[in-house]
Amino acid sequence: MRSTSLIRRFLVMVPICLATIFVFYFTNALMDSSRDSRDFEHKCDCSKHDIPSKQDGHREIQDIPNKQDIPNRQDVPKIQDIPKKQVDLPNAGNNPNVDKIPEVPEQTDPACAPEPKDNPNVNPLSKFYSVWYDPPTQVAKRDKVTIVIWTELWDNQMRKVLPKGKGAKCLSMPNCIFSKFRNEIEEADAVLFEVSNLQKNYNASVLPKFRHPRQHWVWYHTECPGFPSINFETYRSVFNWTITYRADSDSSGAWGSLHRTYQRLKVEGVDPNKDYTKGKRKLAVWFISKCNTQANRVAYATELVKHMHVDVFGRCGKTVCAKWNVTCMPDIITQYKFYLAFENMKCKEYLTEKFWRNALANDVIPVVLGANRSDYERLAPPHSYIHVDDFKSPKELANYLMLLDKDKDQYNAYFKWKTHPPKDIPLEEGMWCNMCRELLNRCPTKRKLYTNLRGWFEGENKSMCDPMEDVKFQELQFENDRFKVASYA
Ligand SMILES: *[C@@H]1O[C@H](CO)[C@@H](O)[C@H](O)[C@H]1NC(C)=O
Ligand SMILES: *[C@@H]1O[C@H](CO)[C@@H](O)[C@H](O)[C@H]1NC(C)=O
Ligand SMILES: *[C@@H]1O[C@H](CO)[C@@H](O)[C@H](O)[C@H]1NC(C)=O
Ligand SMILES: *[C@@H]1O[C@H](CO)[C@@H](O)[C@H](O)[C@H]1NC(C)=O
Ligand SMILES: *[C@@H]1O[C@H](CO)[C@@H](O)[C@H](O)[C@H]1NC(C)=O
Repeated sequence: MRSTSLIRRFLVMVPICLATIFVFYFTNALMDSSRDSRDFEHKCDCSKHDIPSKQDGHREIQDIPNKQDIPNRQDVPKIQDIPKKQVDLPNAGNNPNVDKIPEVPEQTDPACAPEPKDNPNVNPLSKFYSVWYDPPTQVAKRDKVTIVIWTELWDNQMRKVLPKGKGAKCLSMPNCIFSKFRNEIEEADAVLFEVSNLQKNYNASVLPKFRHPRQHWVWYHTECPGFPSINFETYRSVFNWTITYRADSDSSGAWGSLHRTYQRLKVEGVDPNKDYTKGKRKLAVWFISKCNTQANRVAYATELVKHMHVDVFGRCGKTVCAKWNVTCMPDIITQYKFYLAFENMKCKEYLTEKFWRNALANDVIPVVLGANRSDYERLAPPHSYIHVDDFKSPKELANYLMLLDKDKDQYNAYFKWKTHPPKDIPLEEGMWCNMCRELLNRCPTKRKLYTNLRGWFEGENKSMCDPMEDVKFQELQFENDRFKVASYA
């Protein structure tokens, strides 16, 4: 009874071509049990229907699988519905042959259990993507993965990132290979698209022609929603995976993390008695590259400099560093007690290199404006920063900074985190390793597709970022090394 109804449901929800493969696969498997299932998948032609072919010219919306075409959550067999092979697991406590537990079928892979983050009641953002599970096949968990980097990377530094065009980027996972060779697309478990090198509008002629169902197309974007990006509407239902600074991305592309910070300290070593005021003769520094701006940070800084001295450098101030001089910024920053790590937008979890690299890694206290305090509490080392929201006004902040300037002990207290790591630091080893780990661990039959990438990235009603404050359009100007702000309507 149960099994007939299961089969019926199964046939209804599986696209016909997949069912065919499934049957075909088992026939083949019987004939040649040693065949690698991955080889077989590559022969699947049906995936080609998923992508518009070259002859289609510009893609019609109908070509894009829309939500109706994708099996919706109810149609997809739930893990509980899939008949489990009855195995009597020996009790580990009194069985010496624990190693000999019979192999469990793939569908009981814990990685394939439905994830709470995909449940709209738990995560409202999950309505912006679809998740389904392909029928359980004997597709093994991935034990090695290939990632093709399809676009150039953000600063056209592909040669630096992959000197030989191909290689392992994550030392701890040598079985995870990145390649810039586009002809390896058929082997790819994932294809990386860096957003600034994508065409603004979806253009099939510059995207891979081949796409098999196991392959993840990855949207990689390091900036917050305020930055220029692709025209989202044309890229609906194209990407399976996101890499952004946000922790709920499919894999993290954060600019820094607790894990990496404490790893770095392990290598560098920490002197618990170090006096961090030594060699710092100057008070506060701010590097800013966008001078015409409505950003909240300018209004705040304008007020702040009325009460304390801040040196302002950057493209619109005094240019002090040549673009590719990597020692220049640290040389300057380490002369200061405070670094204004003011982000250009207040977005959830948006902590950039200003915080991690410019301030924290240079042993200078970051004064932060951007994400909410609660985000910093979760993501940053404890008591390592000064958040502007803790002060009633820029004037009060200025008073506090000038107080710390005179109080060596209080100043040094902002570096105690180095010897007091928080408990349970999440694993976050940088973008390359994060991607490898997630790909290797992901349920092999799980499928995901961003049907509304804009909604996911900006949040419903753009809730991911606070709106710009209603300040007049401003322009930074400089007068005798001090900056002032000219407002004009
Ligand atoms: C698509 O990209 C190709 C190659 O860059 C370009 O020649 C063509 O004009 C683009 N099509 C559209 C509609 O932008
Ligand atoms: C880089 O910047 C440092 C510090 O400002 C300076 O001393 C050095 O000469 C610069 N190096 C180059 C190659 O310009
Ligand atoms: C910051 O917190 C406030 C109050 O909880 C909230 O309304 C706002 O959306 C949050 N902003 C961001 C960018 O997370
Ligand atoms: C990615 O999306 C495509 C297009 O809908 C789909 O065919 C494929 O199975 C998805 N891949 C994964 C790994 O989710
Ligand atoms: C977004 O805005 C719409 C229309 O104003 C409103 O109905 C909806 O509840 C809002 N959603 C959220 C999550 O605030």
